[in-house]
Amino acid sequence: MKWLIVLTACLLGSSIASANEVDWSKVRSLDVYPAIPINPRMPLGGPEGRITNGNVAAAKQFPYQAGLLLYFEDGASWCGASLISDRWLLTAAHCTDGALGVDVYLGAWNRTDKTEKHQHIIYVSNRNIIVHETYDGVAIVDDISLIKLPVSIEFNDYVQPIALPKVAETYDTYVGKQVIASGWGKISDSSRGATDVLRFIEVPILENRVCNRWFLGSVKSTNICIKTTGGISTCNGDSGGPLVYNDGESTVLIGATSFGIRLGCEMGWPGVFTRVTSYLPWIEAKSGISSK
Ligand SMILES: *[C@@H]1O[C@H](CO)[C@@H](O)[C@H](O)[C@H]1NC(C)=O
Repeated sequence: MKWLIVLTACLLGSSIASANEVDWSKVRSLDVYPAIPINPRMPLGGPEGRITNGNVAAAKQFPYQAGLLLYFEDGASWCGASLISDRWLLTAAHCTDGALGVDVYLGAWNRTDKTEKHQHIIYVSNRNIIVHETYDGVAIVDDISLIKLPVSIEFNDYVQPIALPKVAETYDTYVGKQVIASGWGKISDSSRGATDVLRFIEVPILENRVCNRWFLGSVKSTNICIKTTGGISTCNGDSGGPLVYNDGESTVLIGATSFGIRLGCEMGWPGVFTRVTSYLPWIEAKSGISSK
């Protein structure tokens, strides 16, 4: 696949990447814990808590998982994304908003290992990034964006799209269902940055009403929350990444990591995601992708 070229080096005169060498210590794990009001009466979770406290993924386990190395005027950030077709990725608006461009990592497991055989990096400029028109970075509403690859990619065991939920009149709330979130985000609150190898957690969906007790009303119907008992949570660097549900027959994308609290990922506060079923018409209007 000769068209898979890394344009990082020529794009950036900066010190983060030069001659295809990324200085990972300079890449920020995007803050998924924006200043959301929190309920001071809610108890803090157990201290043993951490894709804090997740498991290391096996190769090919999450072929729809993509990584994003996003370039901004003042540096770079790391986020996750989901491959939803041979041309499109879904991620969070707070990841891509203001980015000049992004290196999309596909088929990666150890993202820092350039010798990984099935890992491909494709540069996409911000002309091919669509941030939701009514994304509000203060209230964190409509935290969704789409990235269009410059060319269609070929699928293999390491690179596969994830299906969107089927278009319907009403959607499952998924409350109580076991779901899986994955990413290269921080593995503990004391970690300095995102981790090398892909990790995942399996957790239940929390009812929005209950989730809102922790976030004082900041959780909208267009969000979906996970329970993070024991500090098993998404964390900085997982932003934009997939939350999936397998109903026994198929696996569908139901969320994109959006926010938590600044206090840390091990505190037992729920993790909040953009609810994919709320945006199916928007996704179809922009990308033409839908599941009927
Ligand atoms: C990931 O790759 C980097 C760079 O090759 C290496 O230093 C590191 O040990 C690898 N991590 C794991 C867990 O294999």
